[in-house]
Amino acid sequence: MENITILGIESSCDDTSAAVIRDGYLLSNLISSQELHRVYGGVVPELASRAHQINIVPVVDRALKEAGVEIQDISAVAFTRGPGLIGSLLVGVSFAKGLALARDIPLIEVNHLHAHVLAHFIKRKDKENRIPSFPFLCLLVSGGHTQLIVVRDYYTMELIGNTIDDAAGEAFDKCGKLMGLPYPAGPVIDKLAASGNKNAFRFAKPSVPGLDFSFSGLKTSFLYFLRDRLNENPDFIKENLPDLCASLQDAIISVLITKLVKAAEITGIEEIGIAGGVSANSAFRQALKEEGEKRGWNVYIPEFIFTTDNAAMIAITGYYRYLKGEFASHDVIPLARM
Ligand code: KG4
Ligand code: ZN
Repeated sequence: MENITILGIESSCDDTSAAVIRDGYLLSNLISSQELHRVYGGVVPELASRAHQINIVPVVDRALKEAGVEIQDISAVAFTRGPGLIGSLLVGVSFAKGLALARDIPLIEVNHLHAHVLAHFIKRKDKENRIPSFPFLCLLVSGGHTQLIVVRDYYTMELIGNTIDDAAGEAFDKCGKLMGLPYPAGPVIDKLAASGNKNAFRFAKPSVPGLDFSFSGLKTSFLYFLRDRLNENPDFIKENLPDLCASLQDAIISVLITKLVKAAEITGIEEIGIAGGVSANSAFRQALKEEGEKRGWNVYIPEFIFTTDNAAMIAITGYYRYLKGEFASHDVIPLARM
């Protein structure tokens, strides 16, 4: 099948995104991030939903223009069904349904988590396009999820490890909030950590058996540590911010890498990648590269633009579902959990 052109729509949280993929190659990927949540210290669902309504038409329009395609060139429209904020998802689902109906083209539902993983399979015309072969072991680390996934093919994924409490991104964001950093704190901590000493402070690391993760203990240990130090010196955070960020970041990364190594040993898989917002973290990317070199893995690190929420990953997932004829009915409703 050739000239399959998929329009992808992503609206699960606070980014409105549209992308066009033709035959597995990316033509455009537009993301409109909602800055308005910053002052509230987290995403406000009602505001996110309204902002999606304002953004969706212009974002799709720009994605089509940038891709150089007309609306009648679109073979199918893929959208995020969930998991995510229901009011946000509704905007993308409704838009996709309307377009599919108007153009009489298939509608394709996409699981946001599958899409983060399949972001590794997006190809670019002008690039080398190193893509994983199957089976592929992927560590998905985002604001809502921390999962070890064995990817058998484009359609079959096996969950072999999961967080029992907070996600890794949440650990970054919540600890960042304790230090007075804006939301999302992950990227801010990443930047500040660059000039800090990762061995400056130590926090209790969780010990969960098997391949599951836990981050709430680390968060509590961080909270008590800050409380005690602030009692002695009210300027403790201000005077030690880069060291605090570097030490916290290192604790989170070492938990992630330890479990990834364990999963690789158990499954015997050496095609290894990371996905999701936290995979944008520079120290995490570096740590994975080094671990991979040491162990002889083939390591896959997504381009920055494909780590956090984007519609290109929805479009590529939609493309593979299109090839299998996996279409959604117009009765489909968004799901907060999947
Ligand atoms: O995948 P994503 O955009 O949205 C979800 O599906 O959750 O991930 C967002 C998460 C946030 O917790 C954010 O703090 C984190 O990814 N994040 C980072 C970095 N960039 C984004 N965490 C650490 N370092 C970064 N550079
Ligand atoms: Zn996401």
